[in-house]
Amino acid sequence: MTPDDFNAAFAGEIEFLPLTDDTPVTTTAARHQRQLELQKIMANRLYGDIPPPPDHISASRQPIPGEQAERLMIEMTVAERRFTVDAALWLPKGISGPVPLICGLDFVGPIGIMTSTGFPIDASARISPRPRYGAPDKRLTETLRGTSAHRWPISMMLDAGYAVLISCYGSWVPDDADGWKTHGLYPFLGCEDASPTGAITLWAWALRRLLDLAATCDEIDSSDIAVAGHSRLGKAALWAAANDVRIKAVFANQSGCGGAAPAAHPVGETLAQMAERFPHWTIPSSHSAADLTFDQHHLLSLIAPRAVYLAGARADLWSDPIGSFAALQEAASFWQTDRVVDWVWPLAQETWQSCGPVRNGPLGYHLRPGGHDLLPYDWRQFLEFLKTC
Ligand code: GCU
Repeated sequence: MTPDDFNAAFAGEIEFLPLTDDTPVTTTAARHQRQLELQKIMANRLYGDIPPPPDHISASRQPIPGEQAERLMIEMTVAERRFTVDAALWLPKGISGPVPLICGLDFVGPIGIMTSTGFPIDASARISPRPRYGAPDKRLTETLRGTSAHRWPISMMLDAGYAVLISCYGSWVPDDADGWKTHGLYPFLGCEDASPTGAITLWAWALRRLLDLAATCDEIDSSDIAVAGHSRLGKAALWAAANDVRIKAVFANQSGCGGAAPAAHPVGETLAQMAERFPHWTIPSSHSAADLTFDQHHLLSLIAPRAVYLAGARADLWSDPIGSFAALQEAASFWQTDRVVDWVWPLAQETWQSCGPVRNGPLGYHLRPGGHDLLPYDWRQFLEFLKTC
């Protein structure tokens, strides 16, 4: 990496908006109060409100031939409406008591992780097109089987003692600006008649339902749940964690604009660029917002005192890895209200060069060589972080 690469990624000092409205947050109660205010601001100005839970949710479990996983057939109702969706659950072998859980949405979902044909294809899911492997018309296809397996190294997680619960994001909310309102959570939750919302909020809602289900599984310790997501699903994972204290740790990999990357840092995607290509992700009024009164370090601060882990890649400046690192440091004071800590944050340039992990109690980060993807290396770092956070 040359100094020029670093300069392109860094783009100078960042002027963050203040975390607090004049009143310093020095107590847990003050932090909580400020978090409630910030949560409202971010919902009203960017993501939209998270709708209430369904009236009813349950799942039946079915073994999947040839796999260590089970299929969860989830059924939910809201008033007279009914919605069904699938997820896959992997449990470590020979467990004798409840185990912690890693839970997430994936771009392809369980069929992308398993290579066998035991898990059925959801014909109504609509995902981001994957021209290399399939997904014409944004539909899941047989050729996509196994294509997300490297993103979810299940045996590494099971060996570390975690259960894993994963669903396909496009089964809950079509990732499609034209189609997201006609299938999935939007009509099911009656969003048309409620205040505006966006797909990131609804994917976060989906993650919270996976947590509801985890609480019904005796094999899972529901007090020890980490949620993870890559890129747009990292945005959703952060927003879910910002709204749900059941999430003990969150791993947002290359979450970028609308995730951990601050608008105050002029590197990578802007909110306007994101809204142009993906208008359904955030609420319409955010698309033309000029003066932001919040930024993404506020999103991170909503997760305190729980654990936040971010990761970036040097060749993925679109997701602004250095800005995200700075946002994490900027948010850190929200973790310091009720404890004395002596955290050391290496300079961005050192992190850029060494690519070493940074672990400060409940806050962690790493950068790696390479581009936009979620790799087994990223998981190894996150699993190490979970041991001490
Ligand atoms: C696009 C988009 C990003 C998003 C990414 C992804 O690059 O601009 O905001 O994070 O897709 O989800 O892979």
